[in-house]
Amino acid sequence: MHGPNLNLLGEREPAVYGRTTLAEIDAALAATAGAAGHQLDSLQANAEHVLVERIQAARADGTALILINPAAFTHTSVAIRDALAAVALPVIEVHLSNPHSREPFRRHSYVSDLAVGVVCGFGADSYRYALDAALRRLATAA
Ligand code: DQA
Repeated sequence: MHGPNLNLLGEREPAVYGRTTLAEIDAALAATAGAAGHQLDSLQANAEHVLVERIQAARADGTALILINPAAFTHTSVAIRDALAAVALPVIEVHLSNPHSREPFRRHSYVSDLAVGVVCGFGADSYRYALDAALRRLATAA
């Protein structure tokens, strides 16, 4: 799951977020997950309620794990945090940039303490590393 403004990846502040588009990231993740025998569903939304509703749906649709870059909602959204707590699935938080090396308001996450892990600072590769961790976790859980 991808939060607000991540639909602009590739064009948005490329010095911070790189040149890889969200479509390229999603395609690579889906291919890697598929090769490992898993299905990866992607959703990007600029609206908080759309993300909350998708997280809620994960309670009953067979989702095994949530990979999420909440983007700006990381730092603001009690609603997304509460939804993740409600579904009680493993969560891996992802960021392209390293929020800890940026403005002070990015240092607090409403999600990190619920997450099994956080991957940040590696650009588009953050998603790749997070998926690798997710697949290892799912293989161990199986
Ligand atoms: C981000 C970091 C957030 O602070 C920011 O609001 C984003 C993207 C990242 O992936 O680096 O939109 O989540």
